[in-house]
Amino acid sequence: MSNAFEAIQISDRVYWVGAIDWELRSFHGYLTKRGTTYNAYLIVADEITLVDTVKPAFMDEMLARIASVVDPSQISNIISNHAEMDHSGALPELIKRYHPNRIIASPQGAKALAAHYHWDVEVETAKTGDSLDLGGAQLRFVEARMLHWPDSMFAYLEGDGVLFTNDAFGMHLATSERFADQVEETLWRREAAKYYANILLHFSPLVKRLLAQLPSLELDIAIIAPDHGPIWRENVMQIVELYAHWAKQLPTRKALVIYDSMWRSTALMAQAVGEGLAAGGAEVRLLPLDGTHRSDVLTELLDAGGLVVGSPTMNNQIYPTVADVMTYIKGLKPQNLVGASFGSYGWSGEAVKHLDKQLEEMKVELAAPGFRVNYVPDADALASCRALGRKVAERLLAKVEEASSES
Ligand code: FEO
Repeated sequence: MSNAFEAIQISDRVYWVGAIDWELRSFHGYLTKRGTTYNAYLIVADEITLVDTVKPAFMDEMLARIASVVDPSQISNIISNHAEMDHSGALPELIKRYHPNRIIASPQGAKALAAHYHWDVEVETAKTGDSLDLGGAQLRFVEARMLHWPDSMFAYLEGDGVLFTNDAFGMHLATSERFADQVEETLWRREAAKYYANILLHFSPLVKRLLAQLPSLELDIAIIAPDHGPIWRENVMQIVELYAHWAKQLPTRKALVIYDSMWRSTALMAQAVGEGLAAGGAEVRLLPLDGTHRSDVLTELLDAGGLVVGSPTMNNQIYPTVADVMTYIKGLKPQNLVGASFGSYGWSGEAVKHLDKQLEEMKVELAAPGFRVNYVPDADALASCRALGRKVAERLLAKVEEASSES
């Protein structure tokens, strides 16, 4: 086994024994320009306990890090906080090689593991309030359903105050630093926001509920140890407060204009809409979808209050790049948005009608009916696009005002 990899101690009893994936560039559709990590944690108590594992291809790296602390055959318990294979992938082989005494997952986790691995392994289940005595240390469990799978679970190590949160509070960021306070703040803020927008936005009501539940659990949290990216130590409250803020999805005066274009007609319209938005007091971002990845659109949308969408009509439909991003946004259920649509067409021109319907289905408040132009926009058409942008900005600023007077 390679000895190139060392464990990193993060508290009295806990070691990071995960793997760094510097090469990952796509995580099922999420652009991971900066790679990721698969964090696993070793608790060194009387009963040696591993919290989560890694993708199968990274198992040797994890085992080498474990071996720098204890012989992997000494592992008594493996906690599987989440069955997704970036965290459970190495589990079957670990069980086969080392025969741990217990595998523990949430009730949904036990079912999900069985459905992944079709095994006859007995998985003990843990619910919120259950705990496990590791001999000199207590591990408590907190179910975190739908953050982001039905099986998701947190575990909390008393004494050390480490909350193992699996995907929650994570980010896709490969670094040589293990703690978020060692990473440049603008970088971790950007990557944490991207992760929330793309993985957790849909579940914001549950994030709010879990954060409201935390005080009653009386956890004295010193460290939040997620399964991706750096570990929260000095800035635990910063990331918790960011989650509370993102979950609210308050209206803001920022507006996105997302669009694609065939012969630059819709692009010209997008510019004019953007001018109108800016003139109306909005903070504007134009995002041409020929070159902006859907996961980066969501990052920008996380703190936006406006979503204006432009598409040419192609074969009676929304242009494919725009349709792709609209489907993705719809699934993540952003709230409190004001919007509108626009686009150029040649003969049938259905795209704008389809976009308005989609925006309404997404509960985006339409500031005005969609505006379409036959072939190339002239000066009057561009003036109408500016007017459309102004209407969205007016409604956007009114919503911001309403929200601030309510708070
Ligand atoms: Fe990082 Fe849902 O797996």
